[in-house]
Amino acid sequence: MPHRRNDSGIARVIVTEEAIRVRVGELVHEINADLAGPDLVVVALLKGSVVFLADLIRGFERPVAFDFLGVASYGDGATPAERLTFTKELTIDIAGRHVLVVDDILDTGRTMREVLRYLESFRPASVRTCVLLDKRARREAPVEPDYRGFEIGDEFVVGYGMDFADQYRNLPFIGVLTADAQDAARNAGREGRR
Ligand code: IMP
Ligand code: MG
Repeated sequence: MPHRRNDSGIARVIVTEEAIRVRVGELVHEINADLAGPDLVVVALLKGSVVFLADLIRGFERPVAFDFLGVASYGDGATPAERLTFTKELTIDIAGRHVLVVDDILDTGRTMREVLRYLESFRPASVRTCVLLDKRARREAPVEPDYRGFEIGDEFVVGYGMDFADQYRNLPFIGVLTADAQDAARNAGREGRR
């Protein structure tokens, strides 16, 4: 078979390209109905949300600005006191504007909680959240997304923007790594997961 993509290490596909396309279309429809006002700023968290962002915003029916927020966390993720640092801050003024935060996965919810705190400090008119995947069983911070693509179990996933050690982001589907690759992912810690 010709080598088209680096999909060695993928044990199985959990969300197909077609299922993503259909669900993203539904989310776009919902968001278009809810956020009809003109002044929407989409804030996407680097880097995992980039593919999702590209598909979402092309369905939006109003003028929309977007910006990126870079987040990195210290520690192994097991420490409640863990704080985020921002590796890329906002460059668009969101004061008084409606904000939609887009991320790939809501996992423990700590990233989103800190991001929401940060965004609120700029006094936006409103902030809503949209995540492609929700690992609900893993939640530690009380964060519920306003828009959610799929709920998934406690598995490490890659593809459609999501990585392991910065690989696999270009896969058009969402898959689970093999047991070996999952062990490697756990050992590599959280750094490669943003
Ligand atoms: P949280 O702070 O625990 O909610 O972590 C959310 C961030 O962890 C997401 O923005 C993802 O970048 C990353 N993440 C969580 N689970 C996975 C996964 O299964 N694959 C890739 N990245 C993940
Ligand atoms: Mg991320």
